[in-house]
Amino acid sequence: MIRRAKKEIARSLTEATGRTEQEIISSLETPKTYEHGHLAFPVFMLAKERRCPPPQLAQELAAQLAGKNPIVAKVEAAGGFLNFTLKPEALQGFLFTALRNTEVKPGHNRDLDGKTVIVDFSSPNVAKPMHIGHFRATVIGQSIRNLAEAQGARVIGVNHIGDWGTQFGKLAWAYQNWGTEYDFSKEPIDSLIKLYVRFHDEAEKNPDLERLGAEAFLKLEQGDAEIEKIWKFIVEASFQEYDKVYSLLGTHHDLVLGESFYNDKMDDVVERLKAKQLLQQSEGAQVVFFPETEKMPPCLIRKSDGASIYATRDLAAAIYRHEVQKADQILYVVGVDQTLHFKQIFRVLEMMGYEWSKDCHHVVFGQYRFKDGKMSTRKGKVILAEDVIYQAIDMVRQMIEEKNPSLENKETVAKQVAAGAVVFNDLINDRVKNVDFDLDRAVSMEGDSGPYVQYTNVRCKSILRKYGKDVPSDFQRVLDTPEEQRLIFTLMQFEHVIQTAYRQFKPNVLAQYLLELCTQFSHFYHKNRILGEAADVEASRICLVQATSQILTEGLRLLNIPSPEVM
Ligand code: ARG
Repeated sequence: MIRRAKKEIARSLTEATGRTEQEIISSLETPKTYEHGHLAFPVFMLAKERRCPPPQLAQELAAQLAGKNPIVAKVEAAGGFLNFTLKPEALQGFLFTALRNTEVKPGHNRDLDGKTVIVDFSSPNVAKPMHIGHFRATVIGQSIRNLAEAQGARVIGVNHIGDWGTQFGKLAWAYQNWGTEYDFSKEPIDSLIKLYVRFHDEAEKNPDLERLGAEAFLKLEQGDAEIEKIWKFIVEASFQEYDKVYSLLGTHHDLVLGESFYNDKMDDVVERLKAKQLLQQSEGAQVVFFPETEKMPPCLIRKSDGASIYATRDLAAAIYRHEVQKADQILYVVGVDQTLHFKQIFRVLEMMGYEWSKDCHHVVFGQYRFKDGKMSTRKGKVILAEDVIYQAIDMVRQMIEEKNPSLENKETVAKQVAAGAVVFNDLINDRVKNVDFDLDRAVSMEGDSGPYVQYTNVRCKSILRKYGKDVPSDFQRVLDTPEEQRLIFTLMQFEHVIQTAYRQFKPNVLAQYLLELCTQFSHFYHKNRILGEAADVEASRICLVQATSQILTEGLRLLNIPSPEVM
């Protein structure tokens, strides 16, 4: 794709600039406006070295290079830039050669070959519902996981569920004593919450309960078989509900390693901190203080009662991920409210002398803002992940009934389109910003929505079906109408787009691109007849339709959005 084009241009620039091919490749950019050509080379650095005004140098170079490179249609100076316009046949050559290679998925590269990336995402808290914050963590995390894979990394997506802490002692005790009074078959988390609330109500009247709960937790920590069985039941029951969301969203974790997994790895963390003389007493607890200039509250390692906490488990997890799972990069997809927590964790790791802490990143995201009354909040104030999806499914079902009532597999399609709607609606936003949530807009087929991208792909697939023959792997014609050219050029950006999206951990870069691709496809489609043209024109345009569909499908897949065949 564009990488190949850059290589060719760079080759012809080495002599004139005295730069290496690699240096040139990394400074080649896409011009700000399409009319300025396909690739731009900034001459500012070179001009500085040669003590020559950039526009003058650009002009000299343009004159020197004119007609030299057989793939270049024209090279022009524009301010401090050299702008290259490639010949249409070269452009399409790069695209179709890349897409014909069936060994690599479109747009994938080997940047992270041999590297291991761990993406910690979703990570709900057991016995609590999956709220909308976890929905974001799930959706953004899954897409970043997929994008890492597209860079050639070995990726481990981990669900770091909150399955440890004194509350599980209380819950286990409550379950042991009152469990039979509740129904755990349908909405188990509901019953778990009721149990927990009851425990607290009763504890107000009978202070003994606190002690009993703490005892139960101690037993759990020591591996008491009966309590552990109850705890496992609680975890599994919670997963019944998480899995509903995961299956609707197509979420896939490679591993579920919750906080409990690090229970026996905490002493080691404490020992390491002691050995580095980082651990200090403060008000009966053990903490790590940061240098005063950093103005950061101390990181709590062990509470006064000896219990370990969230931070300690995260330290243990980071060390495990690096030392045992051999992670080269660890990404934490977690909301903005945990910014301080991760700052502390990464800083403690750094103070422990772990250089690799610089490869730990908090991939932070903002919050959803709901217009009053728009979303039903079934259980009090929290907005649940599953409710958002179910509501979207209802709306899409209705749309299908209105627009395409004879559609086959309506229910499957409704689920695919609804998932596409809510996921795209999230990922189209720069993750660090808050999102004004508007379900009407999310499911609308007209706007900048997931369903619109899915629909563009459905249209491509329908053209391919109507064509009815095998798509030719080669054709003799040059695709040179302005719309064909622009579409090809847009398709060629795909690889660069997913690379950028991953480097910035920003799936919105890809989502925005897919919208642009749909726009360019639609211009092409309206101005260039495909079926029924002369055989050669038809065949070449069919190839372009297929290329568009391939890249839309892969782009959506990287966002974890399905591509229905019809809708
Ligand atoms: N369970 C936590 C929460 O819901 C998120 C965990 C994120 N991952 C981590 N390694 N701390 O707030």
